[in-house]
Amino acid sequence: MSDKRIIVAIDGPAGAGKSTLAKRVAHKLGFLFINTGAMYRAVALWALRLNVALSDMHRLEQLAQSARIELGLGDGRVLLNGEDVTDEIRETHVAEAASQVSAVPGVRRALLSMQRQMAERNSVVMEGRDIGSVVFPHAQVKIFLDADPIERARRRALELAQDGHDANVEDIAGELTQRDLRDRNRKEAPLVQAPDAQLVDTTGLSLEEVEEIVLRLVRARTSNGKAVAN
Ligand code: DC
Repeated sequence: MSDKRIIVAIDGPAGAGKSTLAKRVAHKLGFLFINTGAMYRAVALWALRLNVALSDMHRLEQLAQSARIELGLGDGRVLLNGEDVTDEIRETHVAEAASQVSAVPGVRRALLSMQRQMAERNSVVMEGRDIGSVVFPHAQVKIFLDADPIERARRRALELAQDGHDANVEDIAGELTQRDLRDRNRKEAPLVQAPDAQLVDTTGLSLEEVEEIVLRLVRARTSNGKAVAN
């Protein structure tokens, strides 16, 4: 990359803690935090509201192309066509629909171009499934965040309980496994660890410990969070 932007790409399965971590790391570095899963969730929510069949690839592509998705820079709020949908897109049925919608090539094309635009003028911490492999294959820092499936389910259950939702760890584990299987096995930009990504297994680690590992990786690959002139 010839400019001074830095891209920190964080990929990994559902519930690995990508969003919480990416938000904190972005804040520490003064970079934009971009949660690409929220974009797929917003398109899925719109499709559900309009009763568009999740098998209707053409219509889903049209929705993705015309959706106005705004990601709050500091607060992580998500706007869809001007409406705040932050809480609604966290629902389990929206996550499931997002996983289905994200397998549609035309949807991915539309969101890919928005994601690249968002990082045109800024250094970013972008998290998702295909950031290091497809969206920014030349990212200076690539991390693949993973954790034991049961730990991922427990963390997600805790989050849901904190938000006042029912949370059965076994149900959540089943939902995460099914979603990961679909995300890993789709044809277009599947969830995969890029060959040059650093695997960080967060099982048994605190958020602070994971943050420190990631910040150390960023410092090792850049000049203390700044691009090295080239
Ligand atoms: O990160 P998340 O759980 O909010 O993502 C919801 C779904 O969106 C996930 O199951 C797969 C899809 N997704 C994707 O295909 N590519 C991304 N870069 C981010 C999310």
